[in-house]
Amino acid sequence: MNSDYRIVVLLSGSGTTLQSIIDANLPANISAVISNKVGVIGLTRAKSAGIPTHALEHTNYPTREDFDRDLKELIDQYKPDLVVLAGFMRILSSDFVNHYYGKLINIHPSLLPKYKGTKTHQRVIDQGEPLHGSSVHFVTSELDSGPILLQARLPVLSSDSTGSLELRVKAKEHIIYPTAISWLAEGRIHLDGNDIYMDGKKMAGPVVIDYM
Ligand code: GAR
Repeated sequence: MNSDYRIVVLLSGSGTTLQSIIDANLPANISAVISNKVGVIGLTRAKSAGIPTHALEHTNYPTREDFDRDLKELIDQYKPDLVVLAGFMRILSSDFVNHYYGKLINIHPSLLPKYKGTKTHQRVIDQGEPLHGSSVHFVTSELDSGPILLQARLPVLSSDSTGSLELRVKAKEHIIYPTAISWLAEGRIHLDGNDIYMDGKKMAGPVVIDYM
């Protein structure tokens, strides 16, 4: 990746999402990968790709605000244009979120605003939903909320288990997240209040890619 557009990726786990961003060879530079957990595979993936890594353990901090303050300081050393949450399983304080207004995105495994929170694949199956997917959205201080830029939508199959559904959703996440990041890196996307502008035009809703 050779570009002046700088990304910092935050993660907590296996980092398949990070891997998809690395492999997409975007017009952007991943300046650093930061985890709130030591020893996760996501950090190994980053090191293998020659990306600087940091582990900032949240358990060492008395409060969320203390952790978020140090996290912010660390991120800002890299002067990122975009902060990408890639399986970063932490609620962020409003100070943190406001600091990165318009520059902080997340991917969440559901068709938001449905199924915020955890265990989305299991809940979708339990509810007998015909459709499921994943959403790329700007982060606001409310959990899994914020203007939605791009969604992947796919059918839930009668044969689906939680595991198979998660795998199918993840495969699509690995397409839509790099796509959304490339739009941002190319300067095509801007946030104004709660409105997203694409190529200068206000979006009426998210771009939805159907994988039927
Ligand atoms: C992804 O499916 C992502 O959508 C989800 O965590 C997974 C991370 O996978 N994020 C959330 O649930 C955020 N609320 P990975 O660790 O293999 O990249």
